[in-house]
Amino acid sequence: MPPFEFTSVSRIVFGRGQFKRIGELAAEFGRKALIVTNADRTGKLGLLTRLNELLTAHGLTQALFRVDGEPRAEDVDRGVEAARQAQCELLIAVGGGSAIDAGKAIAGLLANGGVALDYMEVVGKGQKITRPAVPWLAVPTTAGTGAEATRNAVIGCPEKHFKASIRSHHLLPRVALVDAELGLHVRPEITARSGMDALTQLIEAYTSTGAEPLTDALALEGVSRAARSLRRAYHRGDDLDAREDMALAALLSGICLSAAGLGAVHGFAAPLGAQFPAPHGAVCAALLPHVLAANIAALRAGAPESPVLARYAAVGRTLAGDASLSQAQALDACGRITRDLVAELSIPRLGQYGITESDIAGLVALARQSSSMRYNPAALSADVLAEVLRRAL
Ligand SMILES: [Fe+2]
Repeated sequence: MPPFEFTSVSRIVFGRGQFKRIGELAAEFGRKALIVTNADRTGKLGLLTRLNELLTAHGLTQALFRVDGEPRAEDVDRGVEAARQAQCELLIAVGGGSAIDAGKAIAGLLANGGVALDYMEVVGKGQKITRPAVPWLAVPTTAGTGAEATRNAVIGCPEKHFKASIRSHHLLPRVALVDAELGLHVRPEITARSGMDALTQLIEAYTSTGAEPLTDALALEGVSRAARSLRRAYHRGDDLDAREDMALAALLSGICLSAAGLGAVHGFAAPLGAQFPAPHGAVCAALLPHVLAANIAALRAGAPESPVLARYAAVGRTLAGDASLSQAQALDACGRITRDLVAELSIPRLGQYGITESDIAGLVALARQSSSMRYNPAALSADVLAEVLRRAL
């Protein structure tokens, strides 16, 4: 067995209605909190009012910082400034993956000094985060990225047309508070693409070259929950059982990807999401069936004895909810079931975001340099990657 290392969020509070504990949980870390949230509907739903009441009841005061869309380096720097000015001792990030990642980066920079670009991989200086982040709590409302359990914050750099991570185990939140009731009002298209991001992350982590014994079981558990509940959460937003399954699948996907790495879908997602106005989960969903088919075909042709094929077969059986499938049937199920899911959830094709044939070569070149591509279980040539992207256009 190859050596492995595992770090994750140390305290997870999971369950419907558990949001009411936020004041008690936050009070352990100080009296003044910076609330980092999305600029969208989060406030309208009364969540921020309720948060304020719960914090006040435990003697905390708060300052509010909103992020519009996926965080950019300058958003993070502004958030650090806001926290300093308000003399915040802790942060609470409430919202989708963008809010959680923004909170994570702000908490990290508050303790380590400097600006976001100092620590960003690839596009920035890539300096190491050496000190634990200022205490922060992650409260996800969309079941998707699993950012509450990952050690990287994805930050956009629009002028360089790239997204890159600030990454360190020092960035993990002190508490991940996951309450599926917070997701009841998430719109169907957000539910669809967030859920497909979680499913992609679970499958890529399970079949990654960095897969670990500790995450294998968690990944398949997550795939199973997403397979049985993503359709239901999409069609019936008030189905709390389905929402709870998806919240757990997303959390598990974050735990798994942080330890095991991802693969070619996420290799494409970074440059594609930075150059085109395409939401991360929609990009992942559109590519997933084609990457699965390409990886399985490459392994069958070049490494038919590869144990990763058995892993893909396990994914296929889990997606199908049928343990009796033969290896060939199960491998076939991977592509077929994810394709059907993408269709049923009305995931747009990538061409709808303005991506054309003439963009393929450039995107393939960038994807091949991405950190996720290193963990893809099959070596895919530039031609094969181009064909994968072409099929998703
Ligand atoms: Fe993702």
